[in-house]
Amino acid sequence: MAVRVKLASRGRSPILGVFEHSKSVAARRPWGKFNPMQTEQDRRPGTFPPLRETRVIAHRGGAANAPENTLAAMRKSARLGVTWVEIDVALLGDGTAVLFHDDTLERCTDGRGRLADCAVADLERLDAGGWFAPEFSGERSPTLAQALAEAEALGLSLNMELKVHGREGEALVDTIVNVFSDSGFPPDRTFVSCFDHGLIEILRRVYPTLPRGLLYRELAQGWRETAEHCGASSIIADHRYVGGAEIAAVRSAGRKAYVYTVNDPACVEALWDAGLTGVITDRPQSFLAP
Ligand code: G3P
Ligand code: MG
Repeated sequence: MAVRVKLASRGRSPILGVFEHSKSVAARRPWGKFNPMQTEQDRRPGTFPPLRETRVIAHRGGAANAPENTLAAMRKSARLGVTWVEIDVALLGDGTAVLFHDDTLERCTDGRGRLADCAVADLERLDAGGWFAPEFSGERSPTLAQALAEAEALGLSLNMELKVHGREGEALVDTIVNVFSDSGFPPDRTFVSCFDHGLIEILRRVYPTLPRGLLYRELAQGWRETAEHCGASSIIADHRYVGGAEIAAVRSAGRKAYVYTVNDPACVEALWDAGLTGVITDRPQSFLAP
């Protein structure tokens, strides 16, 4: 079935007008053997997109072991036996999707200023590793395309968290869909998550078979309805604000239940019994069998 895709109304940011140049999903072909426009109903009524599960997801690539959101962190996690990493994905001012958590450069690079004022050539000049340890000096903040290629080479699966710092949310969704589709990365080895559930709902419309997760601090009222509306297969909450009852409720609702950011296994011992699917952790080695 041919499906025409119309992305959500594109409110272009007056600040980030460069997004005018981003190609829309509808303009891109071919998709290869995987058709992202195939609806969930086309696949199997009443089911979520398939997703390989894991109990351990390395936060920001594995932030305790290497500079966060870098290829070095991904490599280190892979060497430790990790199979999934979480990365933060944000847009530069030139519309490039990169791995970066903050909206400013200071904490994780030797640069200064706002991420939104950078083009990819600017970010490539910055050291994103020396702040963590001298051995990582020269490490760069990768683009999402580079991270997907690295993950594929390492056999890693990826939780891509959308990081929105201004009004670029829809452009970020658009860009991620394009980059992901171009990469050929298997959809069953990824899920996209965001605190802005409106963007997850947009993602459902433009790429229904890409697995989705809703990020919460604590579970807000109405999470079941939101999860249903967004077709979200995962609920991801701050471990400090959920207990066994919430985890059990999420599982009863047919969703996977993850908690972040857990570095001490003792903090979540009780949650496993309640059905916890997995943890997002800076220290994956603490949760992996020796
Ligand atoms: O995805 C879970 C976690 O990464 C959300 O918080 O600020 O570390 O991106 P943050
Ligand atoms: Mg994150």
